[in-house]
Amino acid sequence: MRAVNIAPSLLSADFAAIADQIRMVENAGADLLHLDSMDGRFVPNLTWGPKIVADLRKLTTLPFDCHLMIVEPERYVDEFRKAGADYITFHYEATPHAHRLLQYLRSIGAKAGIGINPATPVGMLVDIIEDIDLLLVMSVNPGFGGQPFIERALVKLAEARALIDQRNPSCLLEVDGGIGLANIERAVEAGATVLVAGSSVFAAADPPETLRDLRRRVEAVARPR
Ligand code: DX5
Ligand code: ZN
Repeated sequence: MRAVNIAPSLLSADFAAIADQIRMVENAGADLLHLDSMDGRFVPNLTWGPKIVADLRKLTTLPFDCHLMIVEPERYVDEFRKAGADYITFHYEATPHAHRLLQYLRSIGAKAGIGINPATPVGMLVDIIEDIDLLLVMSVNPGFGGQPFIERALVKLAEARALIDQRNPSCLLEVDGGIGLANIERAVEAGATVLVAGSSVFAAADPPETLRDLRRRVEAVARPR
């Protein structure tokens, strides 16, 4: 992994041409592919499950960053892992057993990710920070691409960065929602090391050039970690 990584979110890609879309972001320098699974219960939208992840796995060697916006995530993580998920991120708000599930994810060879919604404070993770490989700060309410960035997320990223530096420095810090040319530097300066970008890449007039522009901006402010 780089000091700072860009993860295009396929939620905003054209699935009728998904192989081309993946090749495009891979060639333009994506570090991870961010795959949003939604169940219509945890969030008011539906996307895909493990079958689609397994099919996509054949198209690229990029690591898969699977973001599960589903209730009872413990019921499905084995299937996502078998489908080829490298990082599996569930939501703090979606299970009463976050500690158990983080440990389980590591036991099946996945990187253990946990996400927090805009209303959930970083402090809720104080007692499990050592068990986390990827901490996801949501900068929109999950469910849809193309929503405006919630500025408060920058404060939460800085709080999460402090907690990570103190207790688990190898933990990745991801931000997801509303990231684009207008704010990517500020997210990196606040401490993010994985930047999810959906509509800012796939809905751009020139997606590969936009991704390269995001990369240049990230590199200009990234600090070695
Ligand atoms: C939203 C998803 C995001 C989404 C972000 O719930 O978790 O990954 O794709 O889209 P943008 O970057 O357009 O805000
Ligand atoms: Zn996501």
